[in-house]
Amino acid sequence: MVTLRPFTENDFDRLIGWIDSEAHMVQWAGAVQFTYPLTRPQLEAYLLDAARTPPLRYVFTAVDAEGNPCGHIELGAVNRANETASLCRVLVAPGARGKGLSAPMVRNVLRMGFEGLHLRRIELRVFGFNSAAISSYLRAGFVREGLLRKSQKVGNEYWDTILMGMLREEWQQRDGVGDGPLHA
Ligand SMILES: CC(C)(COP(=O)(O)OP(=O)(O)OC[C@H]1O[C@@H](n2cnc3c(N)ncnc32)[C@H](O)[C@@H]1OP(=O)(O)O)[C@@H](O)C(=O)NCCC(=O)NCCS
Repeated sequence: MVTLRPFTENDFDRLIGWIDSEAHMVQWAGAVQFTYPLTRPQLEAYLLDAARTPPLRYVFTAVDAEGNPCGHIELGAVNRANETASLCRVLVAPGARGKGLSAPMVRNVLRMGFEGLHLRRIELRVFGFNSAAISSYLRAGFVREGLLRKSQKVGNEYWDTILMGMLREEWQQRDGVGDGPLHA
């Protein structure tokens, strides 16, 4: 079981320790909000949007069955008028990958977005080489909607970005019923 709790200042150093290179940071978070190396002031600024009323982003630390923090996830770019948001910055702790932990993390955030915030559409961007993330998102029910070719420069490389989305009715058909309590 994986539960979500709000990401706070107490989580900053652990998250910083999970990001060990610029490439990994861009893979995880894109190149808009953060610059490598990740720092506490960057994370303080990041949380300002979460502290707004109403929040523009909801940021969570994932906790495993033993109570150990095992990941990070965000529902960002929340636009209540347009009923849309983005699933962003999904990260499973390096030592905990490959065990299926991302699935309940993603599902909990989708439930929050579609059922708690009554959103119509949740989208995400993922780099084309990121097979584990793409597989996790497809399994959660996201649909591939587009490809932004060579959209991100990292060092001397250019990465393709895949756009994926899920609609409220797709969520309701797949996971929306009988999914247990929301741990967020
Ligand atoms: C992407 C990430 C969140 C996936 O979390 P996870 O809990 O380790 O993933 P899972 O164990 O649920 O595996 C997801 C799927 O990827 C597959 N997978 C795992 N590692 C893989 C790899 N190296 N290559 C290809 N597929 C892989 C799994 O078999 C699984 O496939 P399935 O859904 O068909 O069973 C995690 O790897 C991570 O934190 N990566 C670094 C940060 C990142 O890239 N975040 C995504 C930003 S968009």
